[in-house]
Amino acid sequence: MTRMLIIGPPGAGKGTQAVRISERLGIPAISTGDIFRANIKGRTPLGQEAKSYIDAGDLVPDSVTNRMVRDRLAEADTADGFLLDGYPRNAAQVEELDAILAGLGQELDVVLKLTADRDELVQRLLGRAQKEGRTDDTESVIRHRLDVYDAETAAVVDVYDRRGVVREVDGLGTVDEVSQRIMTALS
Ligand code: AP5
Repeated sequence: MTRMLIIGPPGAGKGTQAVRISERLGIPAISTGDIFRANIKGRTPLGQEAKSYIDAGDLVPDSVTNRMVRDRLAEADTADGFLLDGYPRNAAQVEELDAILAGLGQELDVVLKLTADRDELVQRLLGRAQKEGRTDDTESVIRHRLDVYDAETAAVVDVYDRRGVVREVDGLGTVDEVSQRIMTALS
């Protein structure tokens, strides 16, 4: 059974690797960004609430995000483990996740930290912009998302580091190479 997070700056490869880990370990990958985007596409009230924040590269308010994650982790498919991608992203979300897991009698096993340098991150996301057209993949918004990561999310890693659950993996190289490093780090 594995309850884990994948954390790292925008473009580090969290979503790409989360799909692979999910298949390999047989646990659901839960991406807060994907849930928001699906709601924006479906024009739901949640999507309407989140859209302006996402387009600007800012964090969606904790009240909205925390409720969404709490509901998702209450679903039956997470009982035997899960991989959270993109949550928690600030200190308040760490506290909320602690409370959710305590309520379920669970705790985190692993926090996988993916690293890559800023130039590589920007190039990857600009490359994706041409293929997928994500509204937050313009150069100015990409740089703002990276700043938000440094200002708010980097400290989340420190919290888990102090708990001794972080495994750091170099996110540079091919997708297969990174996957291989992740499996080694998890074994
Ligand atoms: P989210 O969807 O989580 O975006 P992100 O963190 O900015 O991350 P990305 O999806 O851009 O990058 P990734 O690390 O997943 O890399 P990927 O695999 O896609 O969040 C979006 C927004 O939602 C936030 O800005 C915020 O507004 C809101 N939000 C989400 N969670 C929230 C929360 N908890 N609280 C508040 N707000 C929240 O890869 C990127 C590209 O690189 C792809 O094109 C991929 O093909 C390519 N690539 C991947 N690996 C490699 C490799 N090894 N070599 C070359 N290219 C690669």
